[in-house]
Amino acid sequence: MNHQTVIVLDFGGQYNQLIARRVRENNVYAEVMPYNTPLDVIMSKNPKGIIFTGGPNSVYDATTPKADPKIYECGVPILGLCYGMQLIAHQLGGEVESASVPEFGATMTDMFDSVLSKNVVSKTMCWMSHNDYVSKAPAGFSVIASTEATKIAGFANDARKIYALQFHPEVNHTPQGRQMLHNFLFDVCGCDGDWKMSSFAIDSVNALKAKIGDKKVLCAMSGGVDSSVAALMLHKAVGTQLTCVFVDHGCLRKNEGDEVRAAFEKFGLNLISVDAGEHFLSKLQGITEPEQKRKIIGEEFIRVFEKEAKKLGTVDFLAQGTIYPDVIESGQGDAAVIKSHHNVGGLPDVVDFKEIIEPLRDLFKDEVRAVGEELGLPHDLVWRQPFPGPGLAIRVIGDITPEKIDILQNADYIFREEVAIAGIAEDINQYFAVLTNTKSVGVMGDERTYDWTIALRAVTTDDFMTADWAKIPYDVLGRASNRIVNECAHVGRVVYDITTKPPATIEWE
Ligand code: XMP
Repeated sequence: MNHQTVIVLDFGGQYNQLIARRVRENNVYAEVMPYNTPLDVIMSKNPKGIIFTGGPNSVYDATTPKADPKIYECGVPILGLCYGMQLIAHQLGGEVESASVPEFGATMTDMFDSVLSKNVVSKTMCWMSHNDYVSKAPAGFSVIASTEATKIAGFANDARKIYALQFHPEVNHTPQGRQMLHNFLFDVCGCDGDWKMSSFAIDSVNALKAKIGDKKVLCAMSGGVDSSVAALMLHKAVGTQLTCVFVDHGCLRKNEGDEVRAAFEKFGLNLISVDAGEHFLSKLQGITEPEQKRKIIGEEFIRVFEKEAKKLGTVDFLAQGTIYPDVIESGQGDAAVIKSHHNVGGLPDVVDFKEIIEPLRDLFKDEVRAVGEELGLPHDLVWRQPFPGPGLAIRVIGDITPEKIDILQNADYIFREEVAIAGIAEDINQYFAVLTNTKSVGVMGDERTYDWTIALRAVTTDDFMTADWAKIPYDVLGRASNRIVNECAHVGRVVYDITTKPPATIEWE
């Protein structure tokens, strides 16, 4: 699979993944690499271009991340963004100073004539977020953008193919940013746009066929998009040599197990479905601490999976639905652990197999979905909202009982049904019900009640790292609330969560 590559060199900016996604939206393959990747490793990718991301540092700090100065001499086009621009200025003899007032937010910007401003209006809003600014461009560079506060908001040297922008063209708040990136990719780097999901799917299936030959593959299937697409891709490649194991841990959404089984039966996939609900719930009995719930589910999942796998004898390959953001994030070891997201990452230690296959490790979520559509996976499954590995166990706050799971499954089902009826499912990225551990007083007929409170949570987000609460129409919320208190036993109150992430997280536990 040979395709042109652009390297996104990560200096610690919060938008590194977004930059790579924007590049790929232009059908150009982008790979994120840490800023200190040796130059020969970068060059071994034969990059068509290199983009320096933003970052939280100031170029004058002694420990601040720097690029290998030889990178400017290797003839590969470079685009520096925000900190990336300041770094280029600093390393090539320009000057960077600290501003008395930071420039932050949507800012009217003059775009002067340059290759980056092709098809861009001359005055346009750009998203600024910086304390330092370039006070003098390096010799030989011309100024290509300017704002009232920042005279040098972009500079360029066409002969050296080095460009820089102080603002963030990758974010939606810079409406013409996509065009600017397009100009860099196609008019400066000379990319052809050869990264297409249709050819990726065909090439990957062929590569898997060649790699696996007549050997056996085992895949843990969660019913989520990633493991489903990975499984289907492998099924296309090696048919019945693939065995998928689906562990129903008893904390799935209503009807979920049946839906997953039905979807894959159609493809003739070799699927072993293990109903381990009682076992998991007995292990979770009395556990209230969220991280402990995750740990128990993660461990038990491995045990059950291992037991099934052993029945198959030696397996040559273990397949995982790892996707690119997992790869990038696991490369950044010093980020604080907010929640230990359970996935199948723990399996390799305990299952007897020879090699791991990760057919999706180069893809972002939207690309995984595009491949899923290419392979003919049902639309509902492809566009399924994310569902955490521990499932409803972390949506029943506090201790878990089968009765509570049952209440939550019903409430959650009603909420999802009302969202679907209203036709707003694809406008919301994740939505679900939570069974809080709060009871409250109510009145039903002439009786006083003292029942559970259900919280509804719905968010819009690009990346699940930050999220806004979804502005669901009141009548949809009203209908869901009415039905939940009427149709779900022991629920006396429904509330809607209107907290953004941060400071809250999407899940309640
Ligand atoms: P938070 O709650 O951290 O969630 O804002 C961000 C995204 O991650 C999902 N999530 C999990 N996924 N195992 C998973 O596989 C977990 O333990 C877990 N906890 C949260 C969450 O649903 C959201 O999509």
